[in-house]
Amino acid sequence: MAIRNIITKGDPILKKKSRPVEKFDDRLVQLLEDMAETMYKNEGCGLAAVQIGVLRRVVLVDVGEGLIELINPEIISQEGEQNEAEGCLSFPDEYGVTSRPAVVKVKAQNRDGQWCVYKGEELKARCFCHEIDHLDGVVFKDRLKEDSDKIADLEV
Ligand code: NI
Repeated sequence: MAIRNIITKGDPILKKKSRPVEKFDDRLVQLLEDMAETMYKNEGCGLAAVQIGVLRRVVLVDVGEGLIELINPEIISQEGEQNEAEGCLSFPDEYGVTSRPAVVKVKAQNRDGQWCVYKGEELKARCFCHEIDHLDGVVFKDRLKEDSDKIADLEV
């Protein structure tokens, strides 16, 4: 395992669309392990592969209930709305209020290629949406509510 550098704002790779994972092999496991180590080292609750420079549709989420590995994730349903402060390891010290669904269901493959469905509410729903956005080159700053004080010093 290795801690990888997190790509930060200004790098054009953060705007790129990630490609689906097709091979569920040792390289994928290595990527997942490096991502986990990097996420925990930086005290994040989510990380997308693009944030360490790998344009593959791989996301990790851990909101304190254990690590979830999402490969080729898709949001299959969403309901309600929440408007909460959000940040991102790629935008250190920047926060803003985004509008996200209150509840989402996500379909994703695990490291063995099996499809699973995950439900997220509150912080977990925000993390799922935020990380899946990264796979399409979208960052939270693209989703700030208009009345949000951009780059506000909000407590998260
Ligand atoms: Ni992020």
